[in-house]
Amino acid sequence: MEKEEGLCLGIESTAHTWSVGIVDFSGKVHGLVNNVYIPEEGGLHPALVREHHLKNFKGVILKALQEAKCSLNDISLIAFSQSPGLGPILRIGALVARLLSQFRKIPIVGVNHCIAHIEIGRLMCDIEDPLTLYVSGGNTIISAYESARYQIFGETLDISIGNMIDMVARDAGLAHPGGPKIEKLAEKSNNYISLPYVVKGMDLSFSGLYTAIRHLIESSEFGKKFVLEDVAYSLQETSFSMLTEVTERALAHTKKSEVLLTGGVAANKRLQEMIKSICEDHGTRYEVVPLKLAGDNGAMIAWTGILRFKSEGGFDLSQTNINPKERMDNITIPWRN
Ligand code: ATP
Ligand code: FE2
Repeated sequence: MEKEEGLCLGIESTAHTWSVGIVDFSGKVHGLVNNVYIPEEGGLHPALVREHHLKNFKGVILKALQEAKCSLNDISLIAFSQSPGLGPILRIGALVARLLSQFRKIPIVGVNHCIAHIEIGRLMCDIEDPLTLYVSGGNTIISAYESARYQIFGETLDISIGNMIDMVARDAGLAHPGGPKIEKLAEKSNNYISLPYVVKGMDLSFSGLYTAIRHLIESSEFGKKFVLEDVAYSLQETSFSMLTEVTERALAHTKKSEVLLTGGVAANKRLQEMIKSICEDHGTRYEVVPLKLAGDNGAMIAWTGILRFKSEGGFDLSQTNINPKERMDNITIPWRN
């Protein structure tokens, strides 16, 4: 078992996923266990997610250690998701991380969740300096590295793409998560229904699109003139075209030669096809993060923790407070200088 220089245990706890990843300092993932809270109905209730994570956190840590064939004594660094996310949930990750770090007397580092999505993508796809489209249940961000930060070139002004899709699926009576189900339905139609396409400058808005779809589903024509497959198809064509337009404009502006697609919605084949097509038009390399590491996971937190630790050392305990609203462009990235 080669574990170069040491092992980092990374804890992801920003929303529905409690995940623990064990990664060595060369970037090899030795263990990764996810435990996802799925609401019986409706959206995420922070208090219920918190209870779920509190019940499961220890089992997940033990399983990840077992998968990595090591014990807590072999861990030399603790990383945790410090921002952004739901306060009560971030707090559990931070608390468990502080306890582990203090009991074991090993350093601790806090990690911005959005930056972690990019860093694990750079590592896994062996890509140096991409323009990143990060699309998930909580985020919709087009970003690239410039002037020592991951700058945001475009983002949603209201709800995220994944949240919009999940809300539509819920209105249509489909269980959470709706993304994969909407994708399957969309494959069965090519009947496009016109929907609001809202790109403002470089930013996007999905709330008007959601309302329009809700009206379609509630209308008397639903099931007669058009069916759910047509709605799913039109939703994907409209919202993914919006994402593709902004990504292409950011690509023209930044002149990056690589594009990275990540986040839970990156699993969608139609979105992948659209982004790939603009990359081909621009002669740009295109990569999508392997699905197991595209959604929320502890390995991305561990790896980004290692990068920060290597360039700046561990955090003082006073620096380990959570920051539910912190933007990724607020944080400097010393390891890319
Ligand atoms: P973040 O905290 O980064 O915002 P998250 O908590 O939403 O992430 P992820 O696992 O990154 O978690 O993303 C989940 C989202 O991805 C859900 O909205 C889900 O519906 C969506 N999704 C998953 N698979 C697909 C798919 N095939 N097509 C479209 N959306 C998908
Ligand atoms: Fe995420």
